[in-house]
Amino acid sequence: MKYAFAAMNEKFANDIANWRYDDIYSFYDMAADAHDLMDTKNWRDVIKAVLAEDAELVGWAAFHTENDEFWLSLYLRPDLTGKGLGEGFVSACVNYAISRYELTRQTIRLRVALFNQRAVKVYKRVGFIETSKIIRDTHIGPVDFIEMEKHVAREPVQFWPLPPINMNRLSPPATRNSVHSATPWDETHYTVMLEKQ
Ligand SMILES: CC(C)(COP(=O)(O)OP(=O)(O)OC[C@H]1O[C@@H](n2cnc3c(N)ncnc32)[C@H](O)[C@@H]1OP(=O)(O)O)[C@@H](O)C(=O)NCCC(=O)NCCS
Repeated sequence: MKYAFAAMNEKFANDIANWRYDDIYSFYDMAADAHDLMDTKNWRDVIKAVLAEDAELVGWAAFHTENDEFWLSLYLRPDLTGKGLGEGFVSACVNYAISRYELTRQTIRLRVALFNQRAVKVYKRVGFIETSKIIRDTHIGPVDFIEMEKHVAREPVQFWPLPPINMNRLSPPATRNSVHSATPWDETHYTVMLEKQ
């Protein structure tokens, strides 16, 4: 599946607030902790909706910078979990973070509940390594977490000059889907288009 990242909005946030995860994963139901998600100040730069190619909402992610540390948290829509989409989804969030927040020689950090071995497995697959264990107070009481990190080492993204635009590819009038193609440049463009809506 290909993913695009768009600014959060009221419709998306309300949908997400009603998502319900099965079993132990109900820990991630937003009804219990929707504060950051519903704070519109976060909607421009911190919290992003993740969309599929048909613009359907399939997840969301938060990209926080705190004391010069870059933190990621992410959530696939409940009905899409447990179907093998995790690696692609997490990789898309990491790649978006690197590009959108211009991460070069930095570290992406995340915290995951120890019981959430499904997520831990995916994070390891994408290159995160465990750095520490902590206990955090949560809405269900104290919970064991692990902290993980992934180093980013790449040259700064060169945004300008843009490659020449082949007008034939943008014609007839571009739609979200028609602009979206397999090239990295078009993918960035696709993201920007959605964020400007
Ligand atoms: C975390 C998340 C992105 C993982 O994606 P996913 O598509 O559900 O995971 P996958 O289906 O790809 O499964 C990943 C692996 O975990 C394994 N797995 C599933 N349940 C497991 C469990 N209870 N214990 C150990 N491994 C488990 C799967 O078998 C799979 O391994 P495999 O590929 O070797 O078979 C997704 O579940 C999600 O967003 N969940 C809701 C919120 C959340 O947990 N966010 C993370 C907060 S830190």
